[in-house]
Amino acid sequence: MHPLKVEQPYPYEQWWVAAYSAEIGRTIAARTILGMPLILYRTEAGEAVALSGICPHRSFPLDQGCLVGDSVRCGYHGFTFAASGECVEVPSQSGVPTHSALRRYPVAERGDLIWIWTGSEETADPALLPDIESMGPGNPGWTVEQHPPATIAARYTLLIDNLLDLSHASFIHSDTIPAGEKVAALPVELIETEKSLNVRRLGCNLPPNPFFRLMFPDHDGPIDQSFDAEYFGPHLIRTGGALHASATGERLGTQNYIHLITPETPTTLRYFVVTARDFGADNAALGRLHLDMGTRIQPQDQAAIESIEKVLQTLAPHPREVSARVDTGALKVRKRLTDQIVAEQRARREPAAA
Ligand code: FES
Ligand SMILES: [Fe+2]
Repeated sequence: MHPLKVEQPYPYEQWWVAAYSAEIGRTIAARTILGMPLILYRTEAGEAVALSGICPHRSFPLDQGCLVGDSVRCGYHGFTFAASGECVEVPSQSGVPTHSALRRYPVAERGDLIWIWTGSEETADPALLPDIESMGPGNPGWTVEQHPPATIAARYTLLIDNLLDLSHASFIHSDTIPAGEKVAALPVELIETEKSLNVRRLGCNLPPNPFFRLMFPDHDGPIDQSFDAEYFGPHLIRTGGALHASATGERLGTQNYIHLITPETPTTLRYFVVTARDFGADNAALGRLHLDMGTRIQPQDQAAIESIEKVLQTLAPHPREVSARVDTGALKVRKRLTDQIVAEQRARREPAAA
């Protein structure tokens, strides 16, 4: 599916963020992830559970049922399912029919985020989760803000494209990102490793502005700022980076913007943004400013990629595109993602060779 060179829209053998931890409690929450309706809740012991969201009896949505202890009772005829997904009660008979279990999705909770694995249960490996603590969330040395999640009517790959080419900051965010107007002119460096691909721009000698003064009240003078766009997978891109005093090279701190992307359907996505800094922990005004900026920046990106999605839906499945040098990182990411999907398809066909 455009812009990937493969028709399967997303990889299934993958961890995705299903929700912020605080969103899920002792009521049943419904989500759609990779086209699959799911329910999420916590057991009495507080463990997060993800199960398929449709009752196998007559397709009633299970979020309209209720929790009975750690089990889910369907609101239509009362079929009841344990947290393992197993059907444990059919009120109108003794015993339960065969093939009546719900699919259970492996869950991990890290960085105050609930992650689910949409591939087969045997391949769910917590070691494949990103090292989110190194970026701030879940790390006690960092201050973190979780921004309200948004549903965007666009294929998730358009958000990946958007984040991998931050030169858009000079145009759609020229009024909302301090120093954003400078980004398009900065030279780009590509840093590729096995676990990530970072499109880095370095802004040198950026003059003091009110945002820098709020971040570093004790610093006076120009700042060197990294504008990274680091792809860890289709689920996570980190932007932001380290800030240094231009005169001395002293590191003032690191400000990360963590973008968590979860496809809902082939043409919609759920977007979570988490801001994290390792300085100014007691600077509540800075936290409020980040949340406030998010309310202005995010809709600008959303409007842009929703407009593109509308265009794509009127064009041939693989429209012609012209790329610039600045797109090198985004094109390499498309290739990584295409390769990931192809490898997953191959492993499905030839499990012994995987
Ligand atoms: S539809 Fe769920 S019990 Fe009948
Ligand atoms: Fe943006």
